[in-house]
Amino acid sequence: MEEQIRIFDTTLRDGEQCPGASMNLAEKEEIARQLAKMNVDIIEAGFPISSHGDFDAVKLIAETVEGPVVAGLCRAKEVDINRAWDALKNAPKPRIHTFIATSDIHLQYKLKMSKEEVLKRAVESIQLAKSYVEDVEFSAEDATRSDVAFLCEMVEAAIEAGATTINIPDTVGYALPREHGKLFRTLTERVPSIGRVVLSAHCHDDLGLGVANSLAALDNGARQIECTINGIGERAGNASLEEIVMAIRTRRDEIGHFTNVNAREIMRTSRLVSHVTGFAVQPNKAIVGRNAFAHEAGIHQHGVIARPESYEIMDPRDVGLHQSELVLGKHSGRHAFEKKLTELGFDLDDAGMNKAFERFKGLADKKKDISDRDIESIVADEIYTVPEEFHLEYMHVVSGGNTVPSATIRIRRGDDVLTQAGVGVGSVDAVYCTIDALVDVPHKLTDYSVKSVTGGTDALGEVTVHLESATGNVFLGRGTSTDIIEASAKAYVQAINKLVYHLDDPSTHASTTP
Ligand code: KIV
Ligand code: ZN
Repeated sequence: MEEQIRIFDTTLRDGEQCPGASMNLAEKEEIARQLAKMNVDIIEAGFPISSHGDFDAVKLIAETVEGPVVAGLCRAKEVDINRAWDALKNAPKPRIHTFIATSDIHLQYKLKMSKEEVLKRAVESIQLAKSYVEDVEFSAEDATRSDVAFLCEMVEAAIEAGATTINIPDTVGYALPREHGKLFRTLTERVPSIGRVVLSAHCHDDLGLGVANSLAALDNGARQIECTINGIGERAGNASLEEIVMAIRTRRDEIGHFTNVNAREIMRTSRLVSHVTGFAVQPNKAIVGRNAFAHEAGIHQHGVIARPESYEIMDPRDVGLHQSELVLGKHSGRHAFEKKLTELGFDLDDAGMNKAFERFKGLADKKKDISDRDIESIVADEIYTVPEEFHLEYMHVVSGGNTVPSATIRIRRGDDVLTQAGVGVGSVDAVYCTIDALVDVPHKLTDYSVKSVTGGTDALGEVTVHLESATGNVFLGRGTSTDIIEASAKAYVQAINKLVYHLDDPSTHASTTP
């Protein structure tokens, strides 16, 4: 019989655990709203005990995002569970998600606890969580490398203690699909109370098998899949939500189940997560990569024109890709621009709309055809940011074959206007050294990348930088312009502004892992 597979999105928790993927409160809220719009069943909004930022994000999402269940992660510890409940208690549909490792290697070296102690701790923690809320998920961390008899014993005890969802994580991405399927089958056969709970899979992608393992689990009793947008997450990442949802949908004939996800929101969600984290989606990435629906070979193009199904197993519109991307230009007015933004799913306040429209007009003066991607990129510049401590007012850069690259920069800080000139080994270096001299904010540039948003020499260049603060937090800056030196400066100043904002309010982010 066909059953609904619950989609548990952990982009904001496991996804955010990958180095450099830090998001601020507003960005997390924006992503949660988009996940709700896409109709995922559960949003894991964070790990409340890990930082003030995570606590605030879980609380805000629990209180304001309607639709999905909102989950908060906690170790099997009283202090963690109390903190998680504090963040979740006002949610219409709260879930406490508690975990403890069950593998010998974790017990011996990480927890330094015996099996009996771990079992007792898990049971007590679930009972405490249950005293707060009906919906309690228990995860046996590193389940796939655990002794199967102990895992079965643990799962039975967790159900008896009141867990309503049992998650079996492949924490280190070690499992193979056949063996993963067998583990789920064993659990359904050997755990007497398994029929009372929802069984869940949580697969990491260290061997590139996260999605395959999730589907194998589904074939053998799992009814919840934990995954992230674009597959972001610890190390090689988590199983990717878009791949799982589209596999279940496209091969419903074979899989025999369905999800309630609105697949048409996939593309927008993927781009949003990519903008916010600064992690580009690889061009050939399944479902959401730039080339996922592109046909290069003449014979393929001919086939697709004659009948799309010849080479397309999915309709690109089903994941939210629109046929025509060329939309606005120099003569488009504010009304058309606002309509386009609504179509693309943006909901800006008046100030945001004014800024975005100004940017659009500036771009339209330089670039003839403005695509959806261009618009998404300039709007992202305006909305995924923080108040500006430093505002880049003016820059003049000189470079060339036989000159020493130099930059003159003017930055406004409140009522003060700061101007400085400097040199560097290249234009970007000259700009960055000069900005550093002006702002005097300690940090290390850990990543710099540039890509073009669309094709053509008049394309918008998008620069992404990661800056690490003295306390080890990582801040992303993005900047776009038809001039990549200007885009580089904007990205740098934005990251510095985020860092300074964080110094004022450390609750915006401090990364911690379980
Ligand atoms: O990978 C893992 O084991 C986890 C758990 C905390 C669910 O993310
Ligand atoms: Zn994980």
